Amino acid sequence: MQAKRVLTLAGDGIGPEIMQQGTRVLEAIAKKFDLPLQIETALIGGAAVDVEGQPLPESTLAAAKQSDAILLGAVGGPQWDTLPRPQRPEQGLLGIRSQLKLFANLRPALLFEPLASASSLKPEVVAGLDLLIIRELTGGIYFGQPRGVETLNDGEREGFNTYRYRESEIKRIGHVAFQAAQRRGKKLCSVDKANVLEVTGLWREVMNELAAEYPDVELTHMYVDNAAMQLVRAPKQFDVMVTGNMFGDILSDEAAMLTGSIGMLPSASLAESGLGMYEPCHGSAPDIAGQDKSNPLAMILSVAMMLRYSLQYPEAAAAIEQAVADVLTQGLRTADIAHDGDAIIGTKAMGEAVIKALN
Ligand code: IPM
Ligand code: MG
Repeated sequence: MQAKRVLTLAGDGIGPEIMQQGTRVLEAIAKKFDLPLQIETALIGGAAVDVEGQPLPESTLAAAKQSDAILLGAVGGPQWDTLPRPQRPEQGLLGIRSQLKLFANLRPALLFEPLASASSLKPEVVAGLDLLIIRELTGGIYFGQPRGVETLNDGEREGFNTYRYRESEIKRIGHVAFQAAQRRGKKLCSVDKANVLEVTGLWREVMNELAAEYPDVELTHMYVDNAAMQLVRAPKQFDVMVTGNMFGDILSDEAAMLTGSIGMLPSASLAESGLGMYEPCHGSAPDIAGQDKSNPLAMILSVAMMLRYSLQYPEAAAAIEQAVADVLTQGLRTADIAHDGDAIIGTKAMGEAVIKALN
C-alpha cells in the first residue's frame, strides 16, 4: 500500500506544542493499526513570516497540494498584529483555505459526558449535546470584493467589506449540509439574516430549493441573532446547522464553549476533491504558549477526523475518540476543563495519557 502523505503545519502560539502531541498520537495509531503514513512539516502563519517574510510561502502551498491531508495547529500572535494585513499570520490560514478550495468547514460540538460540569451552562442543558455546525469557508464577507479602508473627500476614513455569495457557492455548501444531516438526525437548521441582508435572503431561497432533493431531511431557518440565543437556551434542539463564513465563525466559538472548553473541539475543512485540512477550532492562545498548559485534545480529535474523512481509516479514528473519552473518564484534566478541585495536568501529560489509553 502506498503511504498516505500528511502535512503538519504547527503555526504559532500553542500551535507547536499541541501539534507535537497530535503527531505523537498519529504515530502511535499508525503503529497500532499498521497504517502507512508519511508525515512532513512546513511553515505557516507568523512562524513563516519570521523565516520567509510571508505567512503562506509557495513551498508550503506546494507541499499542501501534494499531500493527502493537512493538520494545522493555530496561527497568530501580538508580535505580528502591526504588520500590513497581507503579511499577518491570519492571511496564511485564509490563503490556504482559499487556495485549496476548502469550502466546507465541519465543526462538531460534542459533549463528552464527564465534562458536563465543566460547561458554563447547567449540566442538564448540555448533557448529551451533539451538534454539527457547517460553515461556508471560502466566501462571504471574509473574501468579498471590494474591501478596504479609504479616505473620503472630506478627509474622513471609511472601512468597507462586501458580503456576497453566488448561488453556486450556497448550493455547494447546502449539499454538504443536507447530506451530513441525512447521516445524522435528519434535521438541518440554516442560519441567516434574511430579514435584513439580501445576500442571506438568497441563501434562504437556495436552501429551500435544495430541500426538494432531500425529502427525508427537515429544513428550518433561523436568524443569526436568535440562533446565538437558542444555542445557550436550548442547544439540544439542533442537529446540523449550516451558515455562511462569518456567522459560522461566531456561532462555532459559542457552540464550542457549550462543551466545556473550546480546547475540546476539532474541525475539518474539505474541498470537493476530497482533500482536507484538520485543525482545532481554538486559536493560538499566545498568553499560555510554551508553558505546557494548553489542551491538546482538540488537536488530537482533529487527527481522528482526518483519519476518518481524508484517509479512510475509520477504525483508527474511533480508537482515538475512545481513548480521549477514556482519559476524561479517568478524571484527567488540563486547566481549561478542570472543575472545582480537579488535579490539573499539562499538555504533554495529556498527550501521553491518550497514547497510553490507545494501547
Ligand atoms: C477560525 C479563526 C479564523 C477565522 C481566524 C484565525 C482567521 O477564528 O478558524 O475560526 O476567522 O476563520
Ligand atoms: Mg473563529
